[in-house]
Amino acid sequence: MTNKIVTMNIKRSVLGLIMAAAGAGAAWSAEAEYKVVLRTDEAKDTISRMIYGQFAEHLGSCVYEGIWVGEDSDIPNTKGYRNDALEALRELKVPVLRWPGGCFADDYHWRDGVGDKSKRPTLINNNWGGTQEDNSFGTHEFFNLCEMLGIEPYLSVNIGSGTVQEAAQWIEYVTAPNGPMAAERAANGRKEPWKLKFTGIGNESWGCGGEMRPEYYSDVYRRYSVYMRNQPGNKLFRIASGASDYDYNWTKTLMSRVGAGRMDGLSLHYYTVADWNKKGSATDFDTEVYYNTIGKCLEIEPVLERHIAIMDEKDPERRVGLMVDEWGTWFDEEPGTVAGHLFQQNTMRDAMVAALTLNVFHRHAGRVRMANIAQLANVLQAMWLTKGDKLVLTPTYYVFKMYRPHQDAVLIPLNVDCDTIRDSNGRNIPALAATASRAADGSVTVTVTNPMADRTAKVEIELPKGVGRKIASAELLAAPDVHARNTFENPDAVKLSELKNVKIKGDRLVMELPAVSVGGVTLR
Ligand code: AHR
Repeated sequence: MTNKIVTMNIKRSVLGLIMAAAGAGAAWSAEAEYKVVLRTDEAKDTISRMIYGQFAEHLGSCVYEGIWVGEDSDIPNTKGYRNDALEALRELKVPVLRWPGGCFADDYHWRDGVGDKSKRPTLINNNWGGTQEDNSFGTHEFFNLCEMLGIEPYLSVNIGSGTVQEAAQWIEYVTAPNGPMAAERAANGRKEPWKLKFTGIGNESWGCGGEMRPEYYSDVYRRYSVYMRNQPGNKLFRIASGASDYDYNWTKTLMSRVGAGRMDGLSLHYYTVADWNKKGSATDFDTEVYYNTIGKCLEIEPVLERHIAIMDEKDPERRVGLMVDEWGTWFDEEPGTVAGHLFQQNTMRDAMVAALTLNVFHRHAGRVRMANIAQLANVLQAMWLTKGDKLVLTPTYYVFKMYRPHQDAVLIPLNVDCDTIRDSNGRNIPALAATASRAADGSVTVTVTNPMADRTAKVEIELPKGVGRKIASAELLAAPDVHARNTFENPDAVKLSELKNVKIKGDRLVMELPAVSVGGVTLR
């Protein structure tokens, strides 16, 4: 652990209070004081910008409507991509986009989505609501989008219902400079190959991707990876379908039977979900449920640590990256929306989950090389929600925007001096969270999260020598209530503002953060 929760140091709050259930009448004072110490001399790991990755599956209105409306749409678009979505993607500096699934990927036959759009067959999305899709968004539309925005494509290849030949030809179609597949691509309007690095071989192969056992999947992976060849000028980074949450045996088996020479990355899926049979409302929750969401979110850290320890045993040089290519909150679908489309609202609770999870990825930057929040638009913990020509940005979008300075910056380990509370499942939740990094231009960004539902945090950050004393920017994401969200009627209820309660006091940066907020300061 590069972050340490050191001691209890609450001056004006109830010392050492343990909340069996935060909603059960526990009395917190309105503010507390905390200390953060930056350990700049220990900074070594780079936070890969790829951990700010996104995921767009053919699921509900994520791709169709969320990004793609087609050139003939009345919704303002560029070559079929909605303009407001393009702007949001640019603004976030999205580094990598995973497509076409998810579970959908192992049902997807890429040839149905290339060539003349009027001749493309209709498909039934068997995983997600049985919705019919016209295949108007396919390989060209995905790779052109990535190319236009400078995003690394991450292609998830069908090994569940597809064939080795189909997978091999898809890679060739996308990346070969010449040969039969390149000719087919050129006939469909694209002469030059695209660049493709990140390639996923199957998705959730233990479940919707074929219900395989790890031993069997290891062999399937080995077979597919042989035929998914590097082409001249294009080297694939092969990612094996990894474990879900606590399935350590899957990671162990893959590390032994596939190993570092054959895979570059191994994925992991972890959702912040209360109970798969009783997920709960995205917007209507009490304080006890709020803290349980935070507790479950933070549980990703010990889970990551166990997977990493298993990987370290077999791969001490850390050649294989751990790719958390699905993560985020999973609540009930919004009432009145299409069943199976996973359309979910997004509140300040989601913003807390985003910030706290990104901090965990930072702390494990030495092994976690990519992460992809699920999903980009209209599905689960989305960056934006759309309704016709309207698009609203979510609180989660603003967290990703605030965290942009950490992309490819060097992690500065830190100590957070705070108390902890306990959720009703017995999980400890530190009352304050922070992360810091140094960018290539020498600027240092410190981002602090106050997840407490009802108290202001007064934070003092010790600045060692070498950290600038000039506040270059100071932003705040806060709202009067943890349930606050943006809606089509009120799209700006939650947005970034200037963090006003912040100043340099000698060798300290001091700031005040309201309950349930994130503050980010860049120093030069
Ligand atoms: O993100 C939604 C679904 O969750 C994905 O399709 C699948 O991989 C996971 O179970």
